[in-house]
Amino acid sequence: MSPIRNARIVLGVTGGIAAYKSVDLASKLVQAGATVHVILTDAGAEFVGAASFEAITQQPVHRSVFEPWRSDWHGHVSLGQLADVVVVAPATANTIAKLAHGLADDMLGTTVLATTCPLLIAPAMEHQMFHHPATQENLERLAARGVRLIGPESGRLASGEMGDGRMLEPVKIMGTIRQVLGEAGPLRGRRIVVTAAGTRERIDPIRDVGNRSSGQMGYAVVQSLVDRGAEVTLITGPASILAPVGAAVVPVESAVEMEAAVRAAVDGADALIMTAAVSDYRPDAQFSHKLKKADTGERLTIEFVTNPDIVAGIEGDALVKIGFAAETHDLLANARKKLAAKSLDMIVANDAESTIGSPVSQATFLYPDREPEMLERMPKSEVADLLADRVVELLAKRSGES
Ligand code: C5P
Repeated sequence: MSPIRNARIVLGVTGGIAAYKSVDLASKLVQAGATVHVILTDAGAEFVGAASFEAITQQPVHRSVFEPWRSDWHGHVSLGQLADVVVVAPATANTIAKLAHGLADDMLGTTVLATTCPLLIAPAMEHQMFHHPATQENLERLAARGVRLIGPESGRLASGEMGDGRMLEPVKIMGTIRQVLGEAGPLRGRRIVVTAAGTRERIDPIRDVGNRSSGQMGYAVVQSLVDRGAEVTLITGPASILAPVGAAVVPVESAVEMEAAVRAAVDGADALIMTAAVSDYRPDAQFSHKLKKADTGERLTIEFVTNPDIVAGIEGDALVKIGFAAETHDLLANARKKLAAKSLDMIVANDAESTIGSPVSQATFLYPDREPEMLERMPKSEVADLLADRVVELLAKRSGES
């Protein structure tokens, strides 16, 4: 379950054109189960109306410190105290300057001073303003105080010019909020390596052999681990989905590349979770130029050699190792064999044909020393949540043993 669910989020919206995207951000947060309290500055209200935010958040929008007094409402102090996280998006150069200097001449400034929760700032402005030494100094001052600066991104700005200053996309702001809210979770301080998606084995400069793994399971596992506060390295074959915010991403192509990346990443790690569909074979020789029918004739014969078994080759008693088995027949028997052959602490077995590329899965968790757990058919994000809970238990058990 996402830590955004039931979170109380204060969203400061200031006067930049990216404010229109904040309506979408508020909507996404509400859909994810958060209660969103919007503070709209006067300049922000020039770009978007309070009614848009009120309709989406089902909460009053705060415009002024001088809101009518109520016995249960202490203005900026109430908002500051109830918040799990404060996000300012978009944050203009002016607001950044004010927050850097602790100015409290509006509801946003006072709320920021009255809270101890994490503060995220998503700058958005023209590139000259962003790179101005005054803005850079203000940003440094905020960062030194523990404020998380997210973005800006580079690209087309409202003026039509290209440069740094686009507000980070709402989906990435969401990801950062999710990461921040999960930081104190049960995997805090744990380093976990996850492999995901399928590997591709090159034939010639433009052709390869791959499999249909989409990476959805692995990416969901990464998200569930980040949600619980883990520091995650995601080693991924080619995939067309967005990596969860907070993971360090290492893109690879072939099984041999994935093996090298895993070996480097597991040094000092607590767990390795191999969700990747690693190709068992690779072409014995790669052609240095594009193969032509004129050269090969009617038939092309390519010899394959077996790839190294990545997880089986990783040693170390301290490392919790979890594998996945996607089989087309004798699922549990084959998975059990792999559990033993690869010295795994756990294996997730699922039917290859119905799970690969699908957003849902029916999985069974198998252990060397525990009864199997047969799960219902459910979204991969839910399988990932259950798996992450087992990782918490396996790591606690491992720590207890050592
Ligand atoms: O492909 P197979 O069914 O053997 O995969 C079982 C587990 O072993 C998976 O977790 C997979 O990522 C891992 N594996 C590996 N190296 C390989 C093949 C599979 O680490 N060459």
